[in-house]
Amino acid sequence: MTVETESNSINVAIFSTAEEASREVARRIAGAVNRRPDGVLGLATGGTPVTAYQALIGMYRDGKVDFSNIRTFNLDEYIGLPPDHPQSFRHFMDQQLFQSINVDPERTFVPDGLASDVAQACSQYEAMIRDAGGIDLQLLGIGHNGHIAFNEPGSAADSRTRQVALTDETIENNARFFESIDQVPRHAITMGIGTILEAREIVLLALGEGKAEAVAKMVHGPITEQHPASLLRRHRNVTAVLDAAAARRLA
Ligand code: F6R
Repeated sequence: MTVETESNSINVAIFSTAEEASREVARRIAGAVNRRPDGVLGLATGGTPVTAYQALIGMYRDGKVDFSNIRTFNLDEYIGLPPDHPQSFRHFMDQQLFQSINVDPERTFVPDGLASDVAQACSQYEAMIRDAGGIDLQLLGIGHNGHIAFNEPGSAADSRTRQVALTDETIENNARFFESIDQVPRHAITMGIGTILEAREIVLLALGEGKAEAVAKMVHGPITEQHPASLLRRHRNVTAVLDAAAARRLA
């Protein structure tokens, strides 16, 4: 069941379960690919999109979507982790999605966490997105502190792909994926908020009560760099796909 409302220019689609919300996100991604089979997807990692990626794999296996000509750009990557490190975002994408669909691995891009010249790798990433024609659909999650990608509170609205320091809160949150908190990298490369806002369509998925406050601030709070997700309200085509728990604090 969906409730669609228009609030401060973020469309909100609420589903009773995380499973249904995830399937909706998969449908939207597949829809974008079917509309433009040689288009460009912006993809996210983390706990949130895993079920959506599984649903997308299911749609691929059922012959409902063909990824052979698409290009993908991921939001972010930890600095210092090689691509085959179990916690690198490149490894996550390979495991959770790319290996199970017919995307050409040469057309999947994740920032290079081992780049010797990070600034140059970042401007090259921006150039590659531009040369690909820009991102058609960007998938996002949201941090408890309102971060999008690794744009932590205080990130500039016009920021571009760059090196960032992770906040203590984000390091603590992501420690669940590592053996110990000491192993969580302290820095990452992330697309900027300006980069994200240039995508033609943005779909933000948030699941669970833990995200309810961040979601409510995104939709109802002030538009401020202190809550990066609120800056999405400056974009014309954003949909927040939520389960009921993440939508709990919405008016
Ligand atoms: C992931 C990313 C992050 C996550 C956010 C939520 O590529 O950029 O912004 O979307 O931290 O993470 P989860 O889904 O693990 O709650």
